[in-house]
Amino acid sequence: MTAVRVKDRDGSEQTLDAAETTPLMETLRDDGYGIEGTCGGAMSCGTCHVYVSEAWAAKLPPPSEDEKAMLEAISDFAEVRPTSRLSCQILPDIIYDGLEVEIAPQA
Ligand code: FES
Repeated sequence: MTAVRVKDRDGSEQTLDAAETTPLMETLRDDGYGIEGTCGGAMSCGTCHVYVSEAWAAKLPPPSEDEKAMLEAISDFAEVRPTSRLSCQILPDIIYDGLEVEIAPQA
């Protein structure tokens, strides 16, 4: 398992165990963080938006053009930061033990 530090929308913080075989979006969705993931990871809904900590933002692989396009699309109704990511794109092949994320507000 992989430990992920999560700051929830109410400001509370927890450490959760993320399976090493699923995208982070699925763990956050299944653990009740209000992540809908309605497109199932196809980068077409933006409901899996998280803010990665500054320290971790540089460690993750950069977002793809499709991920950047989705983040741009949601910027009309959500605060998108330089560290914004789609948690469906934080994939299990990325070593992210100790990752810190904040759940973005619902749009
Ligand atoms: S689950 Fe839809 S964009 Fe990530």
